[in-house]
Amino acid sequence: MNRETYYITTPIYYPSAGLHIGNAYCTVVTDAIARYKRMRGFDVMFLTGTDEHGQKIEEKARAEGVTPQEFVDGIVLGSGGITDLWKLMNISFDRFIRTTDDYHMSSIQNVFRALFERGEIYKGAYRGEYCTPCESFWTKTQLVDGKCPDCGREVHYAEEEAYFFRLSKYGDRLTELLETGFLEPRSRVNEMINNFIKPGLEDLCVSRTSIKWGVPVDFDTNHVVYVWIDALFNYMSALGYENGRYDDMRYWPADLHVVGKEIVRFHAIIWPAFLFALDLPLPKKVFGHGWLKLDGTKISKSFGNSIDPMVLAPKYGVDALRYYLIRDVAFGSDGDFTEELLTNRVNADLANDFGNLVSRTVAMVDKYFGGKLPESGTAASPDGELIAFANAAPAAYAASFDKLALQNAVAEVMKLSSRANKYIDETAPWTLAKDEAQKPRLAEVLYNLLETVRFCAVLLSPVMPESSAKALAQIGASDLGAWDDLVFGRLPRRAAVTKCEPLFPRIQVEERA
Ligand code: MSP
Repeated sequence: MNRETYYITTPIYYPSAGLHIGNAYCTVVTDAIARYKRMRGFDVMFLTGTDEHGQKIEEKARAEGVTPQEFVDGIVLGSGGITDLWKLMNISFDRFIRTTDDYHMSSIQNVFRALFERGEIYKGAYRGEYCTPCESFWTKTQLVDGKCPDCGREVHYAEEEAYFFRLSKYGDRLTELLETGFLEPRSRVNEMINNFIKPGLEDLCVSRTSIKWGVPVDFDTNHVVYVWIDALFNYMSALGYENGRYDDMRYWPADLHVVGKEIVRFHAIIWPAFLFALDLPLPKKVFGHGWLKLDGTKISKSFGNSIDPMVLAPKYGVDALRYYLIRDVAFGSDGDFTEELLTNRVNADLANDFGNLVSRTVAMVDKYFGGKLPESGTAASPDGELIAFANAAPAAYAASFDKLALQNAVAEVMKLSSRANKYIDETAPWTLAKDEAQKPRLAEVLYNLLETVRFCAVLLSPVMPESSAKALAQIGASDLGAWDDLVFGRLPRRAAVTKCEPLFPRIQVEERA
């Protein structure tokens, strides 16, 4: 039987500079969802990539005395570049698209032509206040004291020939779409309707003659396709739409586009309008997440407050960082990033709670039974309560994960881990160990703990793939990491348990200095 497909995407990142922790946040969350869906048996396609055209890249390349292609190649493929970052962060993408890839560029030319032939794109003039040195158009309201907001120089009224997309005609269909749950969280829907659709949508400029670094319009070669057609159609060209490179359109429509809140407008208004115009199926959902902030300000390359994940990940551990990003920031809201919050979270949940549960359990199986429990043990209260707690955890976790409340899904696992730590206190295995007659009881207690560790590790695996695999290996359960294995009692009693280094060493506060 064919498995159900699940197509999930991140935005494609601008390689105008290396990425920061805010970009990594978006990709880590998407990766966790993709891994969760794989664990639930879906045939997942997880796409990420880079958005490589445009004036900014052209300018940066010029400043460095290299071609735009050389410039983006360096940032994307170079040492310490974007692909290295995703490798470091353990991002399990299935496909990586670059908008400079030939197959993508030919898709875009075909899309642009099709829109033109259908009358959805027409030739007009772009009008506005023009800054010649910056080669930029501005609206009157964007000017600062009547001057260019970027460089402060004089601007003058100018017109440039350009193609426009008939966005204005889609207001009603878009309102209807937004009201049906296409966009989450719900709060962003009102923002879209009130700020963009109600005031009236204007047709969208989709080509430029002043920029060279872009996809040429093949029937009018003075023009290059301007930004959003090029960027948004990546989600389809990556599957082979209008190109011969792939044959994966069975994944379309996408199940989920994960995007940051400032680009929700492009994904929830412009993107569906393009698809309406071509009579194509719409993605099922766009989720607009919040920003990571530093002292209340968005972390951003242009604000100069970037935090480099390439520095943080080795310092704290990749999984600790992934865990913090998912657990501490409610998906959909903004969150403050500080190393102090990270340290507190990692120490409380991972070092003191789950990590401690694993190391205590494994150490006791090792110490009292030489790493292998006997075939049977003696059950007693409070085993039933722990077992019931563990058996209920997957459903509670899935209910949150399926709603994309990842932080709550993870919290469910931590509740189970804490319950198991409490069970250690309740059963006091060290006391049982003193009495030979209590060995069967001790064996049962430790077996229940191993099983609980296994449940936690499986449920944490989308968030912390490497540490979860290590935890499973320590308890001899590497082959029991599937969702369907979440049945208490499935771990063989005689599984080989091996003591290892702690999974999450406590972060000492001095290390943060
Ligand atoms: N190239 C466009 C997207 C095109 S998608 C068809 C773009 N690129 S970007 O590099 O500027 O941003 C990529 C993503 O990173 C966006 O979703 C953006 O919201 C996200 N983030 C950038 N800074 C962020 C934070 N400080 N916090 C969380 N996410 C942030 O936009």
